[in-house]
Amino acid sequence: MIINKKTATGLEYIEIHNKSATAKVALQGGHLFHYQQQGKTPLLWLSEKSHFQTGKAIRGGIPLCWPWFGKHPADLDLPQHGFARTSFFRLVESNEPDKKTTELVLKFESSASTLSIWPYGFQLILRITVGPSLTVALTTINCDTKAFTISSALHTYFAVSSINAVSVQGLDETEYLDALTGETKIQRGIFRIKEEVDRIYQKTKSSFKIIDSDRVIQIISEGSSSVVVWNPWIDKSTRMADMQADDYKTMLCIETANAFKDARRLIPGEEHTLKVTLMEI
Ligand code: BG6
Repeated sequence: MIINKKTATGLEYIEIHNKSATAKVALQGGHLFHYQQQGKTPLLWLSEKSHFQTGKAIRGGIPLCWPWFGKHPADLDLPQHGFARTSFFRLVESNEPDKKTTELVLKFESSASTLSIWPYGFQLILRITVGPSLTVALTTINCDTKAFTISSALHTYFAVSSINAVSVQGLDETEYLDALTGETKIQRGIFRIKEEVDRIYQKTKSSFKIIDSDRVIQIISEGSSSVVVWNPWIDKSTRMADMQADDYKTMLCIETANAFKDARRLIPGEEHTLKVTLMEI
């Protein structure tokens, strides 16, 4: 079942129910902010203080960082993580191929307003498949006459029982840029989060696991060779308007990305898909 709904603040979203899962996707940002397999707890974290307001990104779920990840390389006045997460997507297709699967296709294209910020013609196609696993695939098509380079991320906020109980598998022996210090380091051994973490892993594998005390979450990335790991810890959570001071204990971002050296250059007519599949196993 696919239902069109609105939050109390007037933000439109699509609610999905099928035999395997439920999900919610806001049209602003093509932002999936809830996914829950039947009989399980939500896979994604969502801040209780999140703004569900026009022009403000939702804090939680899977914000789409695009066409640049992080700060704009040349103009710090431009929004962090690009403009896609606060732009409106259109629902262009929805299918229920069987009782366990729902597929949505959303679209966002260049306009006079995007061209004034980022001077390229593009189409962004978001395919979401809600079933026993969740797949989010973001396709960028270069519709311009000149090449462009994008950096991006499916900025996934996972819900965890307690950050102290969690370890991340799949990043061992991988080089990363520590965004907090600017240093490049190599991940060694079991990765546990014990302080603020903001890292871009490069030349990554494509399969990762979050090992929690009561479940294991599998992450499979495609079209990506970088992963961002972020937890704001207590000081940053306290400073953020849309998080509570102790929210860092129950969330962890593992972001399937095309970030830093993994930015992608697309020539006219070329397309690239950044994709993630998530499930509790
Ligand atoms: C992460 C970045 O991806 O997103 C962090 O690596 C950043 O540096 C975080 O703080 C949250 O960003 P925002 O813009 O949603 O507050």
